[in-house]
Amino acid sequence: MMKQYVLEHEWELTEDGFHPETNEIYESLLSIGNGHMGGRANFEEDFSGNTLQGTYVGGIYYPDKTRVGWWKNGYPEYFAKVLNATNFIGIRIEIDGDLVDLAKVNIIDFKRSTNMKNGLLSKKIIFDTSKGKRFTIHSERFFSLSDPELACISYKLTSENSASIKITPYLDGNIKNQDANYDELFWESISSEATKYQSSLTMKTLKTDFVVSVASSYSWSSEFWISDFNVIEKNKFTATEFCGSLNKGESVHLTKYINVSTSRDYDTNDVTKKASSNLNFHNKDSFESLFLKSEAKWKSHWDHCDIKIEGDSSAQQGIRFNIFHLNQTYTGIDSRLNIGPKGFTGEKYGGSTYWDTEAYCLPFYLGTSDESISKNLLLYRYNQLDKAIENASKLGLAGALYPMVTMNGEECHNEWEITFEEIHRNAAISYAIFNYVRYTGDESYLASNGFEVLAQISRFWADRVNYNPYKDVYMLLGVTGPNEYDNNINNNWYTNRMAKWNLEYTLEVLSLLEHKYPKDHSRLMSKLNITDKELKTWNVIINKMYLPEDKDMGIFLQQDGYLDKEQILVEDLDAKHLPLNQNWSWDRILRSCFIKQADVLQGLFFLYDQYDLDVKKKNFDFYEPRTVHESSLSPCVHSIIASELGYEDKAYELYLRTARLDLDNYNNDTEDGLHITSMAGTWMSVVYGFGGFKIIDDKLSLNPFIPKAWTNYTFKLNFRSRILSVGVKHDGVHLELINGLPLDLLINSKSYTLSSSMFIKSN
Ligand code: BGC
Repeated sequence: MMKQYVLEHEWELTEDGFHPETNEIYESLLSIGNGHMGGRANFEEDFSGNTLQGTYVGGIYYPDKTRVGWWKNGYPEYFAKVLNATNFIGIRIEIDGDLVDLAKVNIIDFKRSTNMKNGLLSKKIIFDTSKGKRFTIHSERFFSLSDPELACISYKLTSENSASIKITPYLDGNIKNQDANYDELFWESISSEATKYQSSLTMKTLKTDFVVSVASSYSWSSEFWISDFNVIEKNKFTATEFCGSLNKGESVHLTKYINVSTSRDYDTNDVTKKASSNLNFHNKDSFESLFLKSEAKWKSHWDHCDIKIEGDSSAQQGIRFNIFHLNQTYTGIDSRLNIGPKGFTGEKYGGSTYWDTEAYCLPFYLGTSDESISKNLLLYRYNQLDKAIENASKLGLAGALYPMVTMNGEECHNEWEITFEEIHRNAAISYAIFNYVRYTGDESYLASNGFEVLAQISRFWADRVNYNPYKDVYMLLGVTGPNEYDNNINNNWYTNRMAKWNLEYTLEVLSLLEHKYPKDHSRLMSKLNITDKELKTWNVIINKMYLPEDKDMGIFLQQDGYLDKEQILVEDLDAKHLPLNQNWSWDRILRSCFIKQADVLQGLFFLYDQYDLDVKKKNFDFYEPRTVHESSLSPCVHSIIASELGYEDKAYELYLRTARLDLDNYNNDTEDGLHITSMAGTWMSVVYGFGGFKIIDDKLSLNPFIPKAWTNYTFKLNFRSRILSVGVKHDGVHLELINGLPLDLLINSKSYTLSSSMFIKSN
């Protein structure tokens, strides 16, 4: 039985009672954000216990100089990190001259909670000061979804005794990243200002010169208690101290309004002015009215993307937790932004873009939002195509190699076996184009942007393969597959297979352009200088790509020589060895047959219509027992294939592992932040796995089952200008067309037309 950190509730994440020893886990779990910015659920008050202070603003990064033991040519100079930014939530409390430090006062009652329905983080604390005086704090804060530059805090302090009080709302730019390579500060101060009712702090990142200005204003429900105030402006810090006294039973109620504006959106010289004027725009709005606007936006998100599960409140909380955080991280309105594996919940992975976006997140946004949002994710890569070409040429190769980790298109990763070898990421970028077009039917994207990316990636594959004249095949040597527990291998089936698929798809698109978009076809052929010779080469490689397999066992081989390894199963390992990455030497991991994450199965998942059930079954039966799932991205793919194979219990077991991964701190790393990108995998394991969603012959197809523990689950799909609702029960599936024209679809492989609603009984 896993330890439960938050109370089980369908919409709320609640820390009940004070848990300073695991505070960082709660800070991650209860994080809030709105796509533009976000932050951990840090306390407004001082807290000298374990904490990871984290406030992040999308797209604001710093190139932290690479730190490696042994430099290799081709390593990037830096790792771009989304920075911990000005702490604007701070409210310092002093009572009778003593600082209230939540780690030191005597906590009598404590509750901290994030409401997933509306993004409100609230907290109630009853505490006694060292002098035995009792106080209650009731705070609420939200990052507005309707006005992404806005955050608000409502802060109420009630005294049960007479006491002198000092309340100091502040903005603090003296912040560091815990993961700074050389312990450097990344910000310099540009300007600061403080008055009784407003203060602002403008900071600039070193090297990248991003300007971020935070303006905040304060309002009191009543100022009866204030006898004095002082304005503080010191290095990278502005605040206003409000001093006064409270009698028994009296309360003070402060509202802190915050605007965060950046030079990504405004001219550098205007940012400070903009932060203040954008804040003043809300001058007359109350916390409640601003919150209602944000809540309405949350409602419209949930209307589209909620998954309702009846009969299992733990599963319900798990799935909403995943969907909630995805929506907080990326709203898709800004094509310059992307989805970092930790979103706005921690520093790890630098807030940068990984293949996770294309392989895992895109399907979630395709299924739950307007197609323009998914298109923005594709455009992000399109806009970085030049850098990907540069990146390939740095390695001496033609075409485009998208980086393993990036912020602006430049590679940031600096482990040779990943930077230079984990090239399968390129195929995920092409696959995302294919996936988007297949899902939306928007072929025009291929003509406007998609083909260029496909062609340049194909060029890369054509140069990266090498011809083996003895076997008359093309091979990909010296690669790392998705399974990072084996490096510098030859012929990773997944990479070779996806490279071949990539070339095939590029040629298919070229022929589509020739017939449907002839003008674009000629423009692109000449712009990219594609010759017949080049196309012929691609065809030869497609026909002669080597794909390792063991015919007797009926499985595709992880890589050349994989079966030479001692074959042990995960179930044969004593639990003390797991997770391997915390218990075994790297050398032992590399020599073992254990697989970190879905690899051959990732290929079977992507290319689901090219393999029959028997092939999938043989490969699943072989690889699942050897997979340790030590990447959060892994269980969802295995869960989806298990569902397809009818392994319902296994599918459910793997689903639970992905859905409550962070909630139950499965991998013992929730304190670092949440696994945002794998959350999209959780959504897929319900919709693609249990729901059996596929596109077959250009038609939406469902093949649903319901886990035994559930009585009903419902999800919505945004598909080709329609919105449909799918409700699955043990006796059948109920479909409803909520919006759009009638849709031809397949349910359990039979054709239907959905024009309003229908119920299809289970077989
Ligand atoms: C996984 C990668 C993934 C990265 C970021 C690693 O542990 O092996 O596949 O891209 O985490 O989520």
